[in-house]
Amino acid sequence: MFRRRQHIQYKTPEQIRKMRKAGLVVAEVHQAMRESAGPGVTTAELDRIAEHVIRDCGAVPSFKGYDIGNGPYPGSICSSVNEQVVHAIPSEDAVLKEGDLLSVDVGAIVDGWHGDAAITIEIGQVAPELTALREACEAAMWAGIKAAGTAKRLGGISHAIEHSVEHSGEYGIVTGFGGHGIGTEMHQDPHILNYGRPSEGPKLRPGMALAIEPMLTLGSEDTAELADGWTIVTDDGSVAAHVEHTIALCEDGVWVLTAPDGGVEQLGDAAASAARAE
Ligand code: MF3
Ligand code: CO
Repeated sequence: MFRRRQHIQYKTPEQIRKMRKAGLVVAEVHQAMRESAGPGVTTAELDRIAEHVIRDCGAVPSFKGYDIGNGPYPGSICSSVNEQVVHAIPSEDAVLKEGDLLSVDVGAIVDGWHGDAAITIEIGQVAPELTALREACEAAMWAGIKAAGTAKRLGGISHAIEHSVEHSGEYGIVTGFGGHGIGTEMHQDPHILNYGRPSEGPKLRPGMALAIEPMLTLGSEDTAELADGWTIVTDDGSVAAHVEHTIALCEDGVWVLTAPDGGVEQLGDAAASAARAE
């Protein structure tokens, strides 16, 4: 069996500190999104706020102009509502309403280094099953992040995410998309499946920086792309959740670069000393 050679970019501690700066910009945008998102607000407004915060920090929005062959992405965020899973373009027509589940994905570049993370926000009061879906998605992400500190191979992260979801309830794990390496580009090797076996994939080593991003649905794991060439929706119209953090594997633990506290609260002693020293 042939396996494509992985081109993994290993970062020095100094470079990881640079990525932390980008991560903190992303975290600041998330905070602004939490404060601004609500019934009656359009996703275009959220996009303007996000770009403002990013540029105010002296950073560059990495999504804007990003091109994977279908033309440049127009926004600074992806704002995916309900059955939209990821990559939905902000729009003046997308007015948030009570009960919506919104995923906001943000990327920023500082000094050539990327941060990429997403949060799922409840708009007003949402149905209890949507809260449970969001919580299951967050739990899966943290299970993956914790596994990054203990697993031998990348598959250990994938397996931990899958296992966490199974433990949480009956959810579809989106199979068509996953996490990724990140560094001087937003998307680098390795691709990170949100399901798999611990024995699979490249070895986890200090210096790796990874974006961990599970996507869960209340129904099918299958997705479709809309005619705009970007928006990914669930095949069956069920509601989806999506959360993401950029993490770095350090010599002595994991640093959650896009979390305000570096992941210390969730990881405790498993957090890198650099995160605990901040
Ligand atoms: N954070 C997204 C991901 O990892 C990237 C957004 S795609 C863009 O898939 F076009 F918006 F940049
Ligand atoms: Co990502």
